[in-house]
Amino acid sequence: MNFNGIDFDTYFKHYPDEKGYFGKYGGSFISPELQKAMDEITEAYFTICKSRKFIAELRRIRKEFQGRPTPISHLERLSNKLGNVQLYVKREDLNHSGAHKLNHCMGEALLAKYMGKKKVIAETGAGQLGVALATAAAYFGLECDIYMGSVDIKKQAPNVARMKILGANVVEVTHGLQTLKEAVDAAFDAYSKEYKDAIYCIGSVLGPHPFPLMVRDFQSVVGIEAREQFLEMTGELPDAIVACVGGGSNAAGFFSGFLNDPVDIYGIEPLGRGPKMGDHAASLKYGTEGIMHGFNSIMLKDENGEPAPVYSVASGLDYPSSGPEHAFLQDIGRVKYDVIDDEETIDAFFTLSKLEGIIPAIESSHAVAYGMKLAKEMGKGSVLINLSGRGDKDMDYIIEKYGIR
Ligand SMILES: Cc1ncc(COP(=O)(O)O)c(C=O)c1O
Repeated sequence: MNFNGIDFDTYFKHYPDEKGYFGKYGGSFISPELQKAMDEITEAYFTICKSRKFIAELRRIRKEFQGRPTPISHLERLSNKLGNVQLYVKREDLNHSGAHKLNHCMGEALLAKYMGKKKVIAETGAGQLGVALATAAAYFGLECDIYMGSVDIKKQAPNVARMKILGANVVEVTHGLQTLKEAVDAAFDAYSKEYKDAIYCIGSVLGPHPFPLMVRDFQSVVGIEAREQFLEMTGELPDAIVACVGGGSNAAGFFSGFLNDPVDIYGIEPLGRGPKMGDHAASLKYGTEGIMHGFNSIMLKDENGEPAPVYSVASGLDYPSSGPEHAFLQDIGRVKYDVIDDEETIDAFFTLSKLEGIIPAIESSHAVAYGMKLAKEMGKGSVLINLSGRGDKDMDYIIEKYGIR
């Protein structure tokens, strides 16, 4: 399929290019010393991603340890309530450890093992990446340091406990807003000191090349499975697909299965309390081009051109930028990026729980809310939503802040 001059039949061969660019976005903006470490990761990744042994091992792990493939569920009661459009969810909440994050953590930890590294390092916001990486580290017998802001540590207490039980070292980040961006800064700092023995497992399709490519590749299992399963279930492709976008990993993997199809694709960012700077984290909607954490993308900046303070009810979405591939897909118009605010999110959280018996993560509830909106607007057809994770981690926070509705 050709879309605005881009040939999607060969898209994955050309995007990103060999320097990690999706059009003008991506690349690698780091110190020469760290660049050497990145080059080592790139070389190792390009070697093992072609190795039959590595692919077979990852397939086995996905089936026997992660419980893949995750199913698609038809949301019959919610669809009937909203009208004629049929809503479906891809159940990444049923992936082991409760979210899509394990898909790339198992791949990255396997790569770390192959490279002879002893430790994995990462940041976490919602704690979901931290739990996934701690799980992968335990599985492969690696040490694991997880950097997390104090605000998120309080908000996501169950996940902090899980990381510790899994044997990870949770390092509290106490500066700035004490949320995801500061945690990424701290993890980057630690990696630049420890790169000889450790590998940085960034939490999303972010950071310098090869991470946006590598994380998308590991997450593409979601899109490949979803396309096959939906065709088998309904005999056709969905009319529209929806995923939430923080850094953009669940969306990148899910979308990759449908980019070359006549399917409308929606990426949903958090509008938080509203469009005023500081009240949201909708970087693709309100941001401008800039460099942060080693890559060029669209980002929210303050008056000094520095990453702006951001907010979302979902700890996993409050990051002032998104992956370079999303900036590119937005520019060429292949994916439409839109926003959902906190209230609509919480409403979707309770609606899906009550009507379907599925408690979604607050992050994923953004996609559910948008799917519900689309269903009302479209009038007929089908919408497939990526349910990126489950809401167990959010229980305490929701009950304290919103009560039970
Ligand atoms: C359940 C869930 N969904 C989505 C996200 C957002 O990340 P990404 O945009 O990389 O998928 C997170 C981040 O922690 C998450 O925990």
